[in-house]
Amino acid sequence: MEKTSVLFVCLGNICRSPMAEGHFIDHITRAGLKDRFRVDSAGTNGLHDGARVDSRMRKTALKHGIELVTLSRKIRNEDFFEFDHIVAMDQKNLATLKAMQDRLSGTKAKLHLMRDYDPGNEGKGVPDPYYGGMSGFEEVFQILEVSTANFLRSIQG
Ligand code: 4NP
Repeated sequence: MEKTSVLFVCLGNICRSPMAEGHFIDHITRAGLKDRFRVDSAGTNGLHDGARVDSRMRKTALKHGIELVTLSRKIRNEDFFEFDHIVAMDQKNLATLKAMQDRLSGTKAKLHLMRDYDPGNEGKGVPDPYYGGMSGFEEVFQILEVSTANFLRSIQG
């Protein structure tokens, strides 16, 4: 059976999208669906290429039992041909992804906004925690726990 592929995208790929990836992997693992998916994350700016996830995000995730081991990478054109779903963390990321996809032809990726799967918060962005305190990372953790669970349900049909 062919795997469903999902790519989560934010600006730096060191806070929000790795956390979304971590939650999604946690949900599919608990549901016994891990083998059915390919999951990855990427950033639109590439400024942190090769870097580990921000230590504050890792610490917050680990407190809740989720280890984030991914390394930052920049989104690339091939992603639009390889992934079934690309999920943007905010409207700015989504606009960047749309512009990239518009320049390509024959892509398969369906673009989504993460919080469209957070009931009551549709259309909003996942707040960028990078320049704030630890409470912002906890908020991101909570938002993404719910959003990724609902997103998984929606693509399972
Ligand atoms: P992320 O957070 O997009 O959730 O990974 C950020 C990380 C780094 C920067 C901005 C946001 N930065 O400007 O370096």
